[in-house]
Amino acid sequence: MSNYHIKHLEEYFQVYRKSVRNPESYWEEIAEEHFMWHKRWDNVLSYDFEKPEFKWFEGAKLNITENCIDRHLRTRGDKTAILFEPNNPDEEAQHISYNELHERVAKMANVFKSQGVKKGDRVCIYLPMIPELAVSVLACARIGAIHSVVFAGFSSSALATRINDSDCKLVITSDGSFRGSKTIDLKGIVDEGLKKCDSVETVLVVNRINAEIEMKEGRDQWLQPLLEKAETTCAPEIMDAEDPLFILYTSGSTGTPKGMVHTTAGYMVYSAFTFKNVFQYREDDVYWCTADIGWITGHSYIVYGPLANGATTVMFEGVPSYPDYGRFWEIVEKHKVTQFYTAPTAIRALAKENLEHVEKYDLTSLKVLGTVGEPINEEAWHWYDENIGKKKCPIVDTWWQTETGGIMISPIPYSTPAIPTFATLPLPGIQPALMDEEGNEIKGNQVDGRLCIKFPWPSMARTIWGNHQRYKDTYFSAFKNMYFTGDGALRDSVGYYRITGRVDDVVIVSGHNLGTAPIEDAINEHPAVAESAIVGYPHEVKGNALYGYVILKETGESRNQDNLRKEINQLISDRIGPIAKLDKIQFTNGLPKTRSGKIMRRILRKIASNDTSNLGDTSTLLNPEIVQEVMDNVIK
Ligand code: PRX
Repeated sequence: MSNYHIKHLEEYFQVYRKSVRNPESYWEEIAEEHFMWHKRWDNVLSYDFEKPEFKWFEGAKLNITENCIDRHLRTRGDKTAILFEPNNPDEEAQHISYNELHERVAKMANVFKSQGVKKGDRVCIYLPMIPELAVSVLACARIGAIHSVVFAGFSSSALATRINDSDCKLVITSDGSFRGSKTIDLKGIVDEGLKKCDSVETVLVVNRINAEIEMKEGRDQWLQPLLEKAETTCAPEIMDAEDPLFILYTSGSTGTPKGMVHTTAGYMVYSAFTFKNVFQYREDDVYWCTADIGWITGHSYIVYGPLANGATTVMFEGVPSYPDYGRFWEIVEKHKVTQFYTAPTAIRALAKENLEHVEKYDLTSLKVLGTVGEPINEEAWHWYDENIGKKKCPIVDTWWQTETGGIMISPIPYSTPAIPTFATLPLPGIQPALMDEEGNEIKGNQVDGRLCIKFPWPSMARTIWGNHQRYKDTYFSAFKNMYFTGDGALRDSVGYYRITGRVDDVVIVSGHNLGTAPIEDAINEHPAVAESAIVGYPHEVKGNALYGYVILKETGESRNQDNLRKEINQLISDRIGPIAKLDKIQFTNGLPKTRSGKIMRRILRKIASNDTSNLGDTSTLLNPEIVQEVMDNVIK
């Protein structure tokens, strides 16, 4: 029996040592014992950091949905696979068994096929957190189509950019979505977006909110009648280990979003293995991750990881504040949730509310708590530990990225003693390195540097869709023979890692990755704007918020500044989505620049963060006088 389930610290160290001594045999053993293959691999791993190219389990044949569904039917057919909790607490929860999921995925897959979707085609999924979202993801995987899920909070332009980047043939959406007390016109957003897309032949529409919507002749079809006619079985497409499974877009510090490509076998093995260990999942547990499937967390730890382990995974359609701030805890009590995985920003927002919202509910079912997406501050960690975990539930602070496919650095419950704000130790097979700016590895403990990974792991993204050069430049060029994460980290005296934040121009706002350049591009489209610079600054609930410095063209100066601020935020909302809106906008006559004309964001970050004691040497700036002016007009 391989060490699929690690149960104490001593065992972790043994497993870890074994995993780095011989990674190939380590992963081979896990792949062999815990998954279903149509053909075994010829080679566990081949890699080349120069190209860069990484292949895991090459030659193997499989279908991930057989691993996530079919193989459970004999022993767990009636067990709940997906437990759907609707936005409105008065609407009944749905318990979708593995048998039912099997049938629903087959029907959806047959509908996709009937619309001409074939292996390798791209399907865009733009749906709220309803069962059809998970079912569509799995249906694509069933027939070998590549899914590209776009978070349903993105705007029509952001959707269009993503659809065009990967030439999606089909879009599945809904007539609208429920979000707390509001409804959102998703179909309207799709219609607007598709004005700019030529590749889409079909739009399938789920009826979720009974809205009156326009259906475009020859393009749009209601899903339900097609499902009713569809066959209830669908033979899985047999895939190669390295066939793409999905594309998921993440923002970069510059340019268009990056379509990270994940492939089949390695992603499956790693997401399943990490799910089992990090959450110490046991057969009768009810696991709940509050993320949206539109993000990597939802892909790996709502859909693939849990289902590959035959787990019950909760899908929640709503928001933590509706009908009141007790909603999360009500759900925990109602479904006797055992593992609860959320983002620090949600914890901080809930911690600000009256404790009564927590104390009303019985949370004794909880065993393990998790956080993801951004650093968790000490105060939020303790609130979570005391009020939700009642000091009895280990907290796993999981560090990873869209690009890594699965959790990389995290405590293992009951094994790794947790320290607030530390993601602690690398999972088996993960070899972190801290690098200095000259490209040397910083060895030893009590050091900090740029976080890299120096050996391949099974679920790493293999390329950026349509732009392998950008993949190489972004992740493999800063440091030779290493994957560069873009994060800074420190390693303490016992070897625990603490992530200190991004070292590039990406800002993590409420756990969402936002590149500053695309936001600046959106602002600069405003006719009154000459130039802009966006930086992050610390925010009590969101972790970071966005601060914009905007230079107006002369003609703009006489305009009402509050109106301009609104217009700028509206533009950002239209181009990217409401999550990228700026909290503060300062109009300024200039921005500090180097002699080569580069904006000195370091200084702007400090000013926005109210940390001006040590601005460093500003004398080499092209316009040192502007620093004082910017400081004098800062928005507190
Ligand atoms: O900066 C790190 C931060 O989120 C980034 C990755 O964002 P994304 O690709 O959207 O994936 C988020 C969900 C996996 C990282 O580069 N981050 C993620 N988890 C943590 C974190 N920062 C600190 N602590 C974490 N646990």
